[in-house]
Amino acid sequence: MLRRHPAEVLHRSSLTWQLLRLRLWPISIVVNLESTGAGTGIGVQAALRCRPACSGRKTRQVVIDDVKLDLLGEASRNQLEPLMLTADQALGMIETLDPAVFRVETQSTLNDRTSFLRVQNFARSAFGRYVYLEVGSHIGGSLFPHLIDPSCEAAISVDPRPAAQPDERAEVFHYAENSAARMRAVLSDRLPPAAMTKLTTIDSDVSDVRSDAVDLKATLALIDGEHTDTACFSDFVGVLPLMKPDCIVSFHDANLIGDAILNAERFLEHLGITHETVFLPDTVAVMGLGRLASALRDHLKPYALDRATYLDQSRRELWSHIARVHSTSLHAEVERLRSDNSQLLGEIERAREASRDAEAGFAAIKSSTTWRASAPVRAVVDRIKRRFAS
Ligand SMILES: C[S@@+](CC[C@H](N)C(=O)[O-])C[C@H]1O[C@@H](n2cnc3c(N)ncnc32)[C@H](O)[C@@H]1O
Repeated sequence: MLRRHPAEVLHRSSLTWQLLRLRLWPISIVVNLESTGAGTGIGVQAALRCRPACSGRKTRQVVIDDVKLDLLGEASRNQLEPLMLTADQALGMIETLDPAVFRVETQSTLNDRTSFLRVQNFARSAFGRYVYLEVGSHIGGSLFPHLIDPSCEAAISVDPRPAAQPDERAEVFHYAENSAARMRAVLSDRLPPAAMTKLTTIDSDVSDVRSDAVDLKATLALIDGEHTDTACFSDFVGVLPLMKPDCIVSFHDANLIGDAILNAERFLEHLGITHETVFLPDTVAVMGLGRLASALRDHLKPYALDRATYLDQSRRELWSHIARVHSTSLHAEVERLRSDNSQLLGEIERAREASRDAEAGFAAIKSSTTWRASAPVRAVVDRIKRRFAS
């Protein structure tokens, strides 16, 4: 049976809303709950499979006979829920850490979204008004809660928009139709024009952005670009000149770029900058710099994961992921080496046989009458050769 989740109520009413929006009035909907099966109860309605029923009737009926449940369900959630939120609704959701405030698809888990909101609330309480800088925005999912937040004065998105990018998981990730224009179009569907005016987009690597390219220095940053340690550390170094000295820098996918975070901390120590880092569920790392270090400790430490365990587990999971992903090609390589090896063993065996044949032939010659009879002549020839050689 379907396990109950508060989001479910919202989703069901959202479905009705969506039908109204699409003007599908003559169609009535029957949700066949028996067939939904057991699920996690989180992020209901990731996929709906519909079939027409009773087509002879005046009003057509559609039976939703498969409601798949998944952990995120973000695509359908965004499609099913009303797009525009009022500022008051959004604020309430931000303050209560409601991940439903994310109205644009984001590549993050529900726990990540809660952690993002926790960090946003921390910034709001620490600064009152804050400036948000984001490295890596895709279609704007993680920008959305800041753009709609009246406490966010300005939001700067820095993203060179590559079609594909490497990753610490030793895989290449592709981003189709990756452009600031697309992101703006998606966001402006869900945000009032006033919120959109806060947004500046820069199609570049952050290390190429001069500090005078932005009007206001940022107080809160999220680094979520290329997920390699090298790129992430470079982003951290590139972000610093665009930030105020007392600021918050957060990292998404901290489980992949733990070494970059350790390097960033070492770099801050080298610069003599006070700092504090916490790891929040699932994969958000947050760093308070300057006066924000102790404030971060007070506000966010109670929600933090154990640092050593987190870093150790992340590293192990990363290695085992790489091993899993690459096991097919590694097995193929082992097979190829095995086949090369057995060919070489065959060649060695054939060479040994030839050598044995040659030795047998030589032994036969040495024991023949001709060989023995010609021994004095060979001795004379050897002596002459030695004399000429000396
Ligand atoms: C994981 S997505 C970002 C997701 C987004 N923050 C969200 O939660 O909705 C990664 C993004 O990093 C961007 N990217 C790739 N290389 C980058 C770089 N060197 N600097 C900044 N962004 C980069 C890609 O264009 C892509 O939009």
